[in-house]
Amino acid sequence: MQKILVTGGCGFIGSHTIVDLLNNGYDVISIDDNSRSSNFSIAGIEQITGKKIKNYKVDLKNFDETQAVFQENTDIAGVIHFAAYKAVGESVGAPLLYFENNLFSLINLLKCVEEFSVPNFVFSSSCTVYGNPDAIPVTELSPIKQAESPYGATKQMGEEMLQAFTKNGKCNVILLRYFNPVGAHPTAILGELPIGRPQNLVPAITQTAIGKLPKMKVFGNDYPTRDGSCVRDYIHVCDIAHAHTLAIQYLEQGKNESHCDVFNLGTGLGVTVLEAIKTFEEQSGVSLNYEIAERRPGDVIAIYANNDAAVNKLGWKIEYDLKDMMRTAWAWELKIKAQEEAAINN
Ligand code: UD1
Repeated sequence: MQKILVTGGCGFIGSHTIVDLLNNGYDVISIDDNSRSSNFSIAGIEQITGKKIKNYKVDLKNFDETQAVFQENTDIAGVIHFAAYKAVGESVGAPLLYFENNLFSLINLLKCVEEFSVPNFVFSSSCTVYGNPDAIPVTELSPIKQAESPYGATKQMGEEMLQAFTKNGKCNVILLRYFNPVGAHPTAILGELPIGRPQNLVPAITQTAIGKLPKMKVFGNDYPTRDGSCVRDYIHVCDIAHAHTLAIQYLEQGKNESHCDVFNLGTGLGVTVLEAIKTFEEQSGVSLNYEIAERRPGDVIAIYANNDAAVNKLGWKIEYDLKDMMRTAWAWELKIKAQEEAAINN
């Protein structure tokens, strides 16, 4: 069994990816400092797969502790690197926190990848690298624009660092550019756990519907789109997760065309904020309390993916549609509420 190191394995996409890797016969270890996640996800992974997982509670900014994980696991066949801060608004207020965390961790990890000759590396990138695109859908060859936020800049710099790192040909890298990952595992055992007030659309919708938030805002209805709200490409987290397994297999089979291949991970369908809300209401039967508000600074107007490369080269098939995304996100929110009520009653 090939051993894959997943960093950020307790996070939203990391935990779903570990499930997918285990279900496809990989052995997995995780590094997560739990600064933005909890070990609760590890229990969820074990419950879904029936397999044990070891999480090293290590801060990747600490080189010695990171190196110790590689010393203990000299058989790591690939690394999937999720661990990073990802709140766009927070990054504007605390840019150094983002540069320090997201870049030092990547540098330390790559030093270990080099020292222990790990052949394959997959990096969590984002459609944020395309900025406000001139033409949609965006392909992997669409221009990289000036980053709209320090968070976005860390993704661009991470990509650049990896492109330079792979030039000696010792390690092969895949950059996966996610569009908007949403939804939850269909068992409702794993899902997204935002810290504080959710910034992203789908957790804002589900937390409003359940009553944790009194009302939500739709940021702008005067954009040049079909209903005036922004267009995004929402993609189910399990589809994103499986793309990572396919990326590792692609590298293992030597199918990569360069030492640093790039893939967009989106459905290829643009959905407006108001359409997303309507689909949620239909799937949950809950009428959402929302109001139209000012535009949110830094929001791009419309973006969705051309995913031909992932479909044709990785063999990626999208299994979940927008209804599934909303249904599973809602089931997860209901599950959290039931657990919170049970904890209060005990
Ligand atoms: C952003 C980043 C993306 C990053 C993600 C992680 C950009 C362009 N995109 O995605 O790279 O991975 O955050 O957090 O920087 N909305 C509302 N009301 C809300 C919340 C959101 O109307 O309460 C709207 C937004 O204006 C936007 C859409 O919903 O039009 C999606 O927003 P969000 O879920 O925050 O994701 P992005 O901003 O697209």
